[in-house]
Order: sequence, then structure tokens, then C-alpha cells
Amino acid sequence: MRIAQLITTSLAIICSVVAARAQTLTARHLSETHTQVRVDAKDRFLLLPVQETAPEARVRVLSDLQEVQALNIRLAIDKVDYFVPFDLTPYSGKNLLLDVVMNQGRSLRRNSSDDVCWNEMKLSPVFDRSNVEYYRPTYHFSPDYGWMNDPNGMVYKDGEWHLFFQYNPYGSIWGNMHWGHAVSKDLMHWEQLGVAIAPDALGTIFSGSAVVDKDNVSGFGKDAIVAMYTSDGANQTQSIAYSNDGGRSFTKYAGNPVIVAEHPDFRDPNLFWDHHTRQWKVILAAGQEVQFWASDNLKDWTYESSFGTGYGNHNGVWECPDLLKMSLDGKEKYVLLLNINPGGPFGGSATQYFVGQYDGHQFTCDDLPTVIRWMDYGMDHYATVTWSNAPAGRTVALAWMSNWQYANAVPTQQFRSSNSIPRDLSLIRQDKEVLLKSSPAPEVEALRGTPRQFKLSSAEEELFDKPQKAYELVIRFNLPKKENVSFILSNESGEQVVMTYETASQTFSMDRRSSGRVSFSKFFPTVTVAPTRVGGKMELRLFLDSASIEAFGNDFCMTNLVFPTTPYNTLKQNGKVKADVTLYPLSK
Ligand code: FRU
Repeated sequence: MRIAQLITTSLAIICSVVAARAQTLTARHLSETHTQVRVDAKDRFLLLPVQETAPEARVRVLSDLQEVQALNIRLAIDKVDYFVPFDLTPYSGKNLLLDVVMNQGRSLRRNSSDDVCWNEMKLSPVFDRSNVEYYRPTYHFSPDYGWMNDPNGMVYKDGEWHLFFQYNPYGSIWGNMHWGHAVSKDLMHWEQLGVAIAPDALGTIFSGSAVVDKDNVSGFGKDAIVAMYTSDGANQTQSIAYSNDGGRSFTKYAGNPVIVAEHPDFRDPNLFWDHHTRQWKVILAAGQEVQFWASDNLKDWTYESSFGTGYGNHNGVWECPDLLKMSLDGKEKYVLLLNINPGGPFGGSATQYFVGQYDGHQFTCDDLPTVIRWMDYGMDHYATVTWSNAPAGRTVALAWMSNWQYANAVPTQQFRSSNSIPRDLSLIRQDKEVLLKSSPAPEVEALRGTPRQFKLSSAEEELFDKPQKAYELVIRFNLPKKENVSFILSNESGEQVVMTYETASQTFSMDRRSSGRVSFSKFFPTVTVAPTRVGGKMELRLFLDSASIEAFGNDFCMTNLVFPTTPYNTLKQNGKVKADVTLYPLSK
């Protein structure tokens, strides 16, 4: 009798139909971890409620019982942190079934029918993208909502700088990798467009690059943008897609994947035109080395060579390579950018580089294998790659301004991560060495407001009457032999960033241990240190935005995130130098 009752009650629970929205959304709990939601696709969006600390649920979207899309999402258990939009436009008028399977960890907590998400899901004609974040940058690109990591497919065409990026449109934590898309005419004002490339049966869409196929060797159309990305599925393979409408929409090649190999980490293809053989080449990360492949039509690829074993830093996974054709003293030189995670000089992610030659088949490094060169000495400069087809022979790089050690935990929620300012790269000689120099792209200067000049003493100089988040400081000074100097930025709460030139060690350091919010990760409170020539005529350019400081010295750069509770509004020096400061407010 008791057993029969139990069965009836359980059946009643399992079959109970919870009407979340009459006729339009109905949830049916099939088991403790399995729920189906019926959705009449009558509106533009289905708003899905997210709780960041919830484990992921797998949502399969079914139309006529066929799977048409699938995604992972942290559906809210007991509170809604924010909503993300699921675009119903492609299914307009259809009756969809969301087949939702909760993660095991979640079912241990309680029966998922108790979760708040079922009653919070709603249809809506609009999704509000207006900013709600204090740490939203003013002049650095950040997605209007959701998660972003690596810059992808950066290509210049018809007056537009294209920025594609690793994007999760279903939450502000890494996952569901798509290529997001933004365009700019001046590298500073970005318009975010719709998702460019979405996951498919071959996998999610990992990092890659894009080029303009001027000679139509691919047959995809003259001047088509051809992108190559990693399909992250059962294993990592390389696929291509093309666009004939300025990157607004992409068609995936039916013969995908186009490059396969037996490597667990085999990704981030970066295409370049090789003038030696008049062919397209691709460089990609393969375990602890990079590989070069060649093609006449961007579809059929042949392996050519590898580089890396025994060279540089190997304390992490090699990712996101880029081969740059540059010049030094009028002669061709190549620079290989190589991102590594972990293994960076201050933990986690960083960009190293190798200077050398490329003969059309193979890269050789000018330095001894033991030499390690870092492109930026901060903690938040990763996945750095350059624009293809940039005008006027420029080599313009962009970095993801975060670090895998804490990227998912930084104190923002509507979006996570922004990019660095674009940087022009050049080679310089110093003490018989050849170094890669990053300079702020000149386009940044267009954001400058009326400058104010002052001499900096040990007394605190107030920067603005009303504190501002976005500004540039240019500090020029002469540093006598054996002298040290610190520049200290601080706010009314006593939070500060200390930047020090030290003669004995010939270094510049940035201490963000008391910079504001630092406790969200034990890896965040750090002092980063760059080797630099200290002494004589010095110039330090600092770019501040809501949550970042980028420092450019004579021969180094350093990019660090900071989360002050109010903007840093005073500057002083802790030394005896005569420092001339120019302060530019920056705005768009
Ligand atoms: C680098 C990286 C790439 C990969 C992508 C996935 O940050 O790990 O190697 O393609 O991110 O999002």
C-alpha cells in the first residue's frame, strides 16, 4: 500500500506540469535532473535566468523533436544573477522544446523542479543591453554582455577593422565558444555586431584568424574574408568559413575540417600570405611547438615544418601563435608571437616572442634556445595577435586584457573581459639585442581632451576636480645615476598603485597589492617587474581606464588590471626628480 502510494506520488511529481507562462512556456519535469520546457517562439528572445555559482545544465533545443541547437548554461537554482537572451528569430512561429539535463552536482543539492529558473524564464521582444557595470571600460573594447577571451580573425578590409573574439553569449564565464564580432573605422569606436560563427557538430569555435582572399584562390569569391578556426570537438581540428558581406555572415566550408593531426592541443591557426612561395601559410600551436602548413587554395593543406622544441618558455601550453613580417635596418625580419599559459613571468598567462628569419618554409630563431623574451611584463596581456592586411604596412596588435588565473572571477558580471588598447609593433636595437617594441596606436590620441600640465613633487597632485576613470598621463623626467623614483596613484579610499624605477636592478615595477578590490583571487595581488634601462631621459605613458593600467616606458610595456573602488585621483612622486606631467582626459 505504502509502495503504491509512493509510486503515485512520484508519478504525480514527475508528470506535474508547471505553467511558467500560460501557453507560451511550460516546464515538465521528467526526472530529478531532466526537464523539458515548451516554448512558443512568438517573441524575439527567450530570456534565460543565470546564477553564476550554479553548475552548468545542458540545454538541447528541439524543433519537431530534432536537435537544432545546444548550449551549456548555469540556470538559476535559488537566485537570478542576470538574464541572457536566446535568439528565437530563426525559429519564429515554431513550437520548440528545450530539453534540459542538469549537471550531477546540481541534483545532489535538490530536485531540480524546485529551481527558480523554470518560473523566471520569459519571452521578450527586447533584451536590455544598457550598461550596468561600474568597471565597464570607456575606451577599451568589451562585449555588451557575456564572456570574451582571445581576439580572433582580426582583419582590415574596406576601411573597417574587424575584431572577432572568443565569446560566450550564454553567460559571463568561459564556455559555448562562438566568434563574436565588432567593427571599427578608427580602432577606438567599436560597434558590436551579431555572432559571426556559432558551434556546430564538429565542435565549439575556438581561436583562429581571417584573411582577405584577394585573388580568389579559394573560389569563395573575390575579396572574400576567409577565416580559419579550431573546431573543438572530440579532438581539435581546423576548419574554415568565408564571408562575402564584410564579415556580417559566414558560410562554413562543407569539406571541414581542413587540417587534422594527432595532438591533444592542436589549435589557434593563424593565416598569413607568404611572398617567398606566393602561397597561403598557416602557423598553429601543436603541443609544445608551432607548426607551419602551406596551401594554394586555403582548403587543401600540407605540413611543412615545426619550431619550438627547446626554445623559450615551456612551462605551460603553447597557444595563439602569430608570425609577423617586419623590418629592421631596411632588412626583412620575422617575429613569432607565442602565447603561453601558465608559465608567465608572474604566473598564469603571458605573451613571449622570438625574433628570427622565415625562408618560406621554416622559422629559425636568432637567439639562443635559452633566451626568453616577454612582449609585456604585466599580468593581463594574453592571446596577443595582429591584424591581417593592416594599411600602410602597420603591424597592429591587440591583447585580451586578462589572465586565465582569475579571468572568470574578476568583479564584473554583465560582461567579463576587455581588450588592451591597440599597439603598433616595431623592432628596436638595444645593447646588441633586437627587441619588439609595443607603442600605443596613434589613434588613441584622438580621444584626448584638453591637456593639463604640471610639475610633480612629493605633494599629492589632484588630477581632476571630479574624479575620472579614463585618462592618459605622460610623465617625463631625467633620472640621475643611482636615483630611484616611485610614482604613486591613489584614490580617496587610500587605494594605490605604486610604480617604481629602480636603478640597482634596472627595473620598472607596478605594485597593485593595495590597488582596490584584490581578494577575488589569491593570484591577483601582485608586483610585476620589467627589465628596463633606468637612468637619463625617461618617459612613462600611462593609460588608465575603469579597470586597467597600461604602462609604456622607453623600452617596455606592462598591462595590469586594477579594480579601485573609486577612480585614482591623485599622483605624487616618492623621489627627487623633476617630473613634467601632461594629463589628458580620454573620452569617446
Ligand atoms: C587561449 C585559448 C586558445 C583557445 C581559446 C579557447 O586563451 O585557450 O588556445 O583556442 O582560448 O577559448
